[in-house]
Amino acid sequence: MSRITIAIDGFSSTGKSTIAKQLAKHLGYVYVDSGAMYRAVTYFAMQHGFISNNHFDLNGLISKLNDVNISFKFNETLGFAEVYLNGINIEKEIRTLEVSGYVSRVAAVPQVRTQMVRQQKKLGAQKGVVMDGRDIGTVVFPNAELKLFMTASAKTRALRRYNELLERGDAVSYEAVLKNVEERDFIDSNRKDSPLVKAVDAIEIDNSNLSIEEQFDKILSLYNEVVSNNSL
Ligand code: DC
Repeated sequence: MSRITIAIDGFSSTGKSTIAKQLAKHLGYVYVDSGAMYRAVTYFAMQHGFISNNHFDLNGLISKLNDVNISFKFNETLGFAEVYLNGINIEKEIRTLEVSGYVSRVAAVPQVRTQMVRQQKKLGAQKGVVMDGRDIGTVVFPNAELKLFMTASAKTRALRRYNELLERGDAVSYEAVLKNVEERDFIDSNRKDSPLVKAVDAIEIDNSNLSIEEQFDKILSLYNEVVSNNSL
């Protein structure tokens, strides 16, 4: 059966990575979390003092971008590929609210985007890939055979994210998470370079009232439709 490219875009915490991981596992495809790459650059910027509260040394970060080596390694136990920065596993470090607070500013930098998009295109060059992010169907893989655009209300998304952070043992307030979700929605949708927009040929899935199983079944049938049309 022919392997296709699946692009999943949408606002933060719309469950993109959950469905992307499920699909990749079911289909034997590679899953790439492009947000993890922007988070990794942000973590690098924090480590080097390029970004902190009220301070962003844009030129400093740009001058060191060639020192940012991002890779993914499949973790058998977790069932997905974890992200590494210069050979060090930073999967846990990039999921904090602190990184989330800075990442949209870093992801708005055109030089950062150019470098990430180049790597993302390479990772998906063989097809058989599910990639999630904000510009996958519009910029990274404009020819993807299946494009999904995930949505859910900001409150639903903040609650999901809040529960995830609590489960990890992070002491955060729901209000802080909601504020972060709303701020990122705004910056991601309004930046000049590759803003978050639904590709014209993307299928919108509002999962506010869908269970994970219902969502999976719905998307799998969309996939089957695309694949059977493709092989006609
Ligand atoms: O999916 P995520 O929440 O882990 O993404 C983190 C940030 O990275 C998000 O606020 C926007 C940015 N991002 C992006 O600009 N383009 C992508 N393809 C993926 C993420």
